[in-house]
Amino acid sequence: MSEKLVIALDGPAASGKGTLGRALSDKMGLAYFDTGKLYRAVGMRMIDTDSDFDNENDVLSATDWLVEHFTPELLQDARLKSDEAGVGASKSGKYGAMRSKLLELQRDFAKNPQNYLDEHTASGLHGVLLDGRDIGTVVCPDADVKLFVTADIEKRAERRLKELQNNGVEVTYSDILADMKARDARDASREAAPMLAADDAVVVDTSEMTPADALAKSLEIIADKAGITIE
Ligand code: C5P
Repeated sequence: MSEKLVIALDGPAASGKGTLGRALSDKMGLAYFDTGKLYRAVGMRMIDTDSDFDNENDVLSATDWLVEHFTPELLQDARLKSDEAGVGASKSGKYGAMRSKLLELQRDFAKNPQNYLDEHTASGLHGVLLDGRDIGTVVCPDADVKLFVTADIEKRAERRLKELQNNGVEVTYSDILADMKARDARDASREAAPMLAADDAVVVDTSEMTPADALAKSLEIIADKAGITIE
């Protein structure tokens, strides 16, 4: 095991991995990085600059902009949570050259999380947890523990519907299901770093689990794989 624990958490949209990632990080004292936010920030920049998702150069310029202007605060923009940003992220993330530009940032976080956090959060860090689509396969292939979190697409669409309705957004279940199928297909079929469970990842299917169940199951897997006791 490396000096600090590195946990890779991958899986499709609305699988519960964000909730799980934050809960695991709180429980275990890990620095948490939702890498989807980087892709979403590029998608949002594309929208803000009225750029063309079919034009790779436009996507590369938006990515360069993000890398140049990156601060952790930039990822706090509330607009990044929108479905518009999610779709923009997925359309931007299909280009391999674009993904390479974001690779260094993600790896630097995994190595030097203290540089991305305030002093208070950084003290007592026991490691890092990165959440995304290709963390276990590409970003941190040597991670100590790899989890691939998934759930039936219907369950995921129901969860997303509830989340959006709670935020006052008017949407229909069928539109969400269709968008989710399109996003899954784009993420899983792209040539560059497709969404994929690493060979050594443990799959956690949250279809019939509450967030607390998913947390308990994942803690068990982590303790076993990393050979540690988690109080
Ligand atoms: O996880 P989230 O829904 O925020 O991710 C938004 C999109 O960003 C995904 O659908 C995917 O296309 C892209 N993404 C990626 N690689 C990552 C994280 C996100 O391609 N590591």
